[in-house]
Amino acid sequence: MALNLVRTRDLSLSKLEFPLIAKRVRMVSVFLLILLLSISTSHKRLFIEATEHTEKLAFHGFDKSILASKYLQIYNNSKYGTLQLDNGLGKTPPMGWNSWNHFGCSVDERVIKETADALVATGLAELGYVYVNIDDCWANKRRILVFVAPLLAPDPNTFPSGIKALADYVHGKGLKLGIYGDAGQLTCQQRPGSLGFELLDAMVLASWEVDYLKYDNCYDMGISPQKRYPAMRDALNSTARSIFYSICEWGVDDPALWAPRVGNSWRTTIDISDSWESMTRIADINDKWAEYAGPGGWNDPDMLEVGNGGMTYQEYRSHFSIWALMKAPLLIGCDVRNMSPQTLEILSNKEVIDVNQDSLGLQGRKINVSGKDGCLQVWAGLLSSSAPEIRLAIVLWNRCSTASMISVSWLELGVIFDVIVSVRDLWEHKFLDSISRDSFGAEVDSHDCKMYIMTHIPLFHSES
Ligand SMILES: *[C@@H]1O[C@H](CO)[C@@H](O)[C@H](O)[C@H]1NC(C)=O
Ligand SMILES: *[C@@H]1O[C@H](CO)[C@@H](O)[C@H](O)[C@H]1NC(C)=O
Ligand SMILES: *[C@@H]1O[C@H](CO)[C@@H](O)[C@H](O)[C@H]1NC(C)=O
Repeated sequence: MALNLVRTRDLSLSKLEFPLIAKRVRMVSVFLLILLLSISTSHKRLFIEATEHTEKLAFHGFDKSILASKYLQIYNNSKYGTLQLDNGLGKTPPMGWNSWNHFGCSVDERVIKETADALVATGLAELGYVYVNIDDCWANKRRILVFVAPLLAPDPNTFPSGIKALADYVHGKGLKLGIYGDAGQLTCQQRPGSLGFELLDAMVLASWEVDYLKYDNCYDMGISPQKRYPAMRDALNSTARSIFYSICEWGVDDPALWAPRVGNSWRTTIDISDSWESMTRIADINDKWAEYAGPGGWNDPDMLEVGNGGMTYQEYRSHFSIWALMKAPLLIGCDVRNMSPQTLEILSNKEVIDVNQDSLGLQGRKINVSGKDGCLQVWAGLLSSSAPEIRLAIVLWNRCSTASMISVSWLELGVIFDVIVSVRDLWEHKFLDSISRDSFGAEVDSHDCKMYIMTHIPLFHSES
């Protein structure tokens, strides 16, 4: 639907503007010819470098023929897709729900089942939120000896039917079950940890038909994450069940540098809390590692707080937009059985979700800041496209305390030629009527954001 609209608009635009464009193409062509003839060796080197990077991108549906050197300076993806764990999972960021942000330790099998029901009833499951993840506190305080094997077991008071029965229930709804463990002696809430028990515990999780493991970092026995996390990767792999492996070492050991070989996602920061300060701080830390994310392995700035009550509608909208642009896992952290219409509206914005789930999987990033303490921000990222189109997702984010105009030149976003542009507002759900050829901007409320997809066709290609 959205795609059709884009195409129709582009067609009508190009018809309207055709004579003007044709003239410009001729002028630009002559200019380019002169430019190409006078290209220096250093330019050639840059071009070859850019071409090598775009070959890699082409695999994921990106038009490799564009003159991408300008883009690659801005959206540098030099680490993209180089190290990924090969378990076939996480081609796009995982979507679902996790119990921790709302329920903490007060979780039981009734909450999990009702959440699965609510994900389906609200339409969220259909939009892609399929993982139903139990966080800490599901496990019995001690391992249970079965013959001689000390096995993980559920807490008999809160999960009396057992995890396998819960997995069956969740799978029966077309959803997936996630669970929580710890790469240490104990979990953070002092349930048994898996350090030294990786193989046994992975076998138990696989026998319960669990689909996702969040693996925490408490009681680490002074051993570095790089030594503790691969053991569970190997253990999960040996079960032959496909289990999404979510590494949660809080960013302590710069996981982007090693975790892509180990897990499908890795937390880059300490836990999020339900406040504007926490959310903005975490977004900035996660942004530093943008070039390391890609299909199969994602930076994880922690779960969503949307709907938990500590931020305003505008702040939650910013939180959701930036998480989507950063290709973060979209794991809902509120009580989906009792959502306000505004919470549901934010979480079910399909156009924003589509940016998160884009097949290219390139993490969007902060492009420019201005204003007091850099509170007027422009974030952007490339999306997949079919030639000759190029698509960019853009977020104008006002972190200042008053409403303000935020603008950016097309050049700063990497748009190098005179182009045909359509811009769609992903929160207003409509195309903008008029677009300046030089720059782009909008008035944005305090702590709010605007999010767009800009589609353009470089003139370089429009006459072929
Ligand atoms: C991308 O970043 C790497 C360092 O991570 C740098 O060596 C490379 O030159 C950059 N590429 C471009 C096109 O700017
Ligand atoms: C186990 O690892 C191999 C090699 O990386 C991979 O091809 C395979 O898909 C993995 N299997 C599972 C179940 O993760
Ligand atoms: C960032 O934006 C400001 C204000 O629009 C502009 O003056 C500046 O040149 C931009 N910086 C970069 C590096 O693009």
